[in-house]
Amino acid sequence: MKQVEDGVTLFSEEESNVIKALKSIARNQQVKTKIQGSEELYPLLKRAAKRFIAGEIKEDGIIKGRELLNKGYAISLEYIGENTDTVEECECAKERFMDLMESLGEASMPSTISLDLSHIGLSVHSDIALKNLIELAAKAKKSSLYIMISMEESNKTDRIIEIYKKVSREYDNVGLTLQAHLNRSEDDILDLLHYPGKIRLVKGAYQEPPNLAITRSDELNHRYLQFAELLIKKNHPTSIATHDESIIQELKKRGHLNQDNVELEMLYGVRADFMKRLKDGNYKTRVYLTYGTEWYLYLCHRLAEYPPNIYVALTDMITPHNGNQSLY
Ligand code: FDA
Repeated sequence: MKQVEDGVTLFSEEESNVIKALKSIARNQQVKTKIQGSEELYPLLKRAAKRFIAGEIKEDGIIKGRELLNKGYAISLEYIGENTDTVEECECAKERFMDLMESLGEASMPSTISLDLSHIGLSVHSDIALKNLIELAAKAKKSSLYIMISMEESNKTDRIIEIYKKVSREYDNVGLTLQAHLNRSEDDILDLLHYPGKIRLVKGAYQEPPNLAITRSDELNHRYLQFAELLIKKNHPTSIATHDESIIQELKKRGHLNQDNVELEMLYGVRADFMKRLKDGNYKTRVYLTYGTEWYLYLCHRLAEYPPNIYVALTDMITPHNGNQSLY
């Protein structure tokens, strides 16, 4: 890994190749099925996943979420899953989210619910995702909860934005994630400023063709800053969803992080030390916490975006770690 002068971390050519390979492995259904069916590999990888997920059941998410709330963080909770391919399974996923909201309501836990539209219908038909999202948004509204739609691969971007727009006209408690690495995102931001939902700005986790997106680079960091500034200057509700210290320090320096509707959001298990410093410095911080058994793709992304995590994962497989809670 090489460190350039202004503090931006860039990856060497070899590391970039590892990143590409991990991102392709992540999308390979055969590899996933093989690992999930393996009595040796599955428990080992589960140990590595534990660093990044709350656990495999809803109660794990609720318990860890409650602890983070008590420490002064806001939370996003996600029942992990994507690319559900039957109507019945989409219905089942929607019901799991309904049940999660019920439990959060009973426990009086304010939370954002994060979800992939392909988890609740997009891979079967857009209309199913739309119908399920409307039901979830209505339930969330009643329980004073917020829904945040994740952004998936670029071949789904148009459909995800279209569904968001339809739901957003009726429900102001639904937001959308946009990826700075996509070349189209500036136009999308300008368009979506006319909708009320929060925009969660991320760099982008998926491997995309070079004509559609740029990779991790100074250029991407500058673009991220430009988009963040665009949203914040328009006073649009914004989640700065990155672990990139150089970006956060720059936004801090420009005085953009003190605005009421701007928050910093990071993934559970990633840069907990930094998140704590920001929370202790009175910045609005939100931890994104996932649970469920479908953690395979999620783990692959965490390893791909920061290859040194491969060593951490190997260590966790040998000596299970005790969780991240004490770091927050
Ligand atoms: P970058 O990858 O450049 O990393 C910057 C620095 O942060 C690294 O040098 C390292 O110090 C630290 N870091 C980053 N990742 C790390 C890791 N896994 N482990 C340890 N340190 C790490 N993507 C997407 O395509 N669709 C989506 O809907 C979402 N949703 C989402 C929500 C939230 C709350 C977050 C924080 C992120 C996402 N992402 C996402 C993932 C996002 O696109 C991106 O892949 C990761 O955030 C990593 O990129 P960074 O912005 O952190 O920068």
